[in-house]
Amino acid sequence: METSQKQSSESMSQDLSELLKEATKEVHEQAENTPFMKNFQKGQVSLHEFKLVTASLYFIYSALEEEIERNKDNPAYAPVYFPAELHRKAALEEDLKYFYGRNWREEIPCPEATQKYVERLHYVGRNHPELLVAHAYTRYLGDLSGGQVLKKIAQKALQLPSTGEGLAFFTFDGVSNATKFKQLYRSRMNALEMDLATKKRVLEEAKKAFLLNIQVFEALQELVSKSQENGHLVQSKAELRARSVNKSYEHGPAPRKESERASRSQTDLVATSPLMRWILALGFIVTTVAVGLFAM
Ligand code: HEM
Repeated sequence: METSQKQSSESMSQDLSELLKEATKEVHEQAENTPFMKNFQKGQVSLHEFKLVTASLYFIYSALEEEIERNKDNPAYAPVYFPAELHRKAALEEDLKYFYGRNWREEIPCPEATQKYVERLHYVGRNHPELLVAHAYTRYLGDLSGGQVLKKIAQKALQLPSTGEGLAFFTFDGVSNATKFKQLYRSRMNALEMDLATKKRVLEEAKKAFLLNIQVFEALQELVSKSQENGHLVQSKAELRARSVNKSYEHGPAPRKESERASRSQTDLVATSPLMRWILALGFIVTTVAVGLFAM
């Protein structure tokens, strides 16, 4: 009993950065292994999916960065306040304008799981600012790590322009060396004044942050499966084909009127639904036979 207490207090005297890495190891693996992320790593990501995840990230980072701004002078957060280097809201706005066009604000969906994450961020920012670092760590250090691999995968899979449009989220102009920046960030986390009990709560909050991310991925996977049934995924593939054929499309956002979208998805439905194909084929045969009989 005494030994385990000693071990636990010893481990708590470690740096917060090490403790966070250790405490979130298992949930990190869990996040990597969600079907959404596994498919992404294999390059199996459609434009539709990518747009959905970008939209959710916009809501998440808007909330996170609003709370960071609220607490930027609070000693519990100030040492890890790096807006020029890390903040992603503006980059996500750029990406959403590119993918959805001018009216992106009216078009982007916010699944319930994303809303739940957003609410937690506001709750923490307003009531427990000492836990905000757990959320900043989970997102920003992740974006600077695995995020860079995902950027290359998305660029290739979606044939996005090499000039970076649609990938602003993954591009950290204010960070010239990600490894060095992560070292600096870790040292600032370690410099936060924190008692043992708070440290433990920060570790729990980081695990919670990972779980909230996992739930967002699961919700997006569900949305994708549902829209696959409705033929929306086919629409995205058609958009992608249009993108690779029409080079001028690469240099700007993808404005597409709602009416155009609707008519495209109807055509896709006709083209992909086996029942509709059968009906059309049957109609064609009946017409041919009728014309033949009439000619006799
Ligand atoms: C396909 C999915 C993912 C891949 C391939 C991936 C990969 C990686 C890699 C290679 C590292 C660097 C590890 C190191 O430096 O030792 C890392 C670190 C990290 N990742 Fe991920 N990751 C993924 C998903 C996520 C998600 C969903 C989150 C959280 C939302 C996340 C958060 C983090 C964090 C916070 C770190 C920093 C760990 C630390 O140094 O303390 N990752 N990831």
